[in-house]
Amino acid sequence: MPMCFARYSRLVPVISGPRAELVLTLTSARRHIGLDHGQADRDLTLRRECRAAHIEKPVLAPLDVGDLVAEALSVAPPPDGMEIIQSGEPGAVIAADRDQIRQALLNLITNAYDSMPGGGVLTVSATRAAGSVHITVTDTGMGMDQETRDSMFTPFFTKKARGIGLGLAVTKRIIEAHGGAITVDSTPSAGSSFTLAVPAAAAMAGARR
Ligand SMILES: Nc1ncnc2c1ncn2[C@@H]1O[C@H](COP(=O)(O)OP(=O)(O)O)[C@@H](O)[C@H]1O
Ligand SMILES: [Mg+2]
Repeated sequence: MPMCFARYSRLVPVISGPRAELVLTLTSARRHIGLDHGQADRDLTLRRECRAAHIEKPVLAPLDVGDLVAEALSVAPPPDGMEIIQSGEPGAVIAADRDQIRQALLNLITNAYDSMPGGGVLTVSATRAAGSVHITVTDTGMGMDQETRDSMFTPFFTKKARGIGLGLAVTKRIIEAHGGAITVDSTPSAGSSFTLAVPAAAAMAGARR
């Protein structure tokens, strides 16, 4: 049964609080989700996502998006039956915190895999725009209905039986901490496309001057 995000709304500080609060929140999140002690793998996943949800101020450095996408795909290789199309404009270099942006990309890529249980095509592209780079992750999966589109960035909103509902909330926070934006285009039964607009490294150099 899909988890009702309203029940978890008081856990929202998980994505902004200090570490002590995070531990408390983790304990209450575990209780709310109804984990028993035998569910060690699920507990570990929750712990990882909550840790990832504690977003530090990004430490910016120039980062080649092609390298980053290759790295993310090697960490989360495609399941059987999934085709990957990767395209990147040369010179697509962003001003970013490597660990954070890789986490954001991983969240989008794993959601894309989840949306295509019967196989499909994942396209990851990077294009240069004025002052920024657009990284787009597109799947040919199940797409999203209106309720999901309205709630997908709300912490602990998930429609997955074993979902946690932090991936997109964290991704949005990471991108906004970089001064960027996330946009989504999705059609039920056809697929979804998430675009991360992240400031280009050239913009970082300009800001320093
Ligand atoms: N690429 C996608 N295709 C279809 N639905 C998606 C996609 N990405 C996210 N969603 C929807 O948004 C919800 C929240 O995603 P997320 O925050 O990553 O949490 P989780 O993956 O744990 O459910 C998912 O449960 C799913 O319903
Ligand atoms: Mg997810």
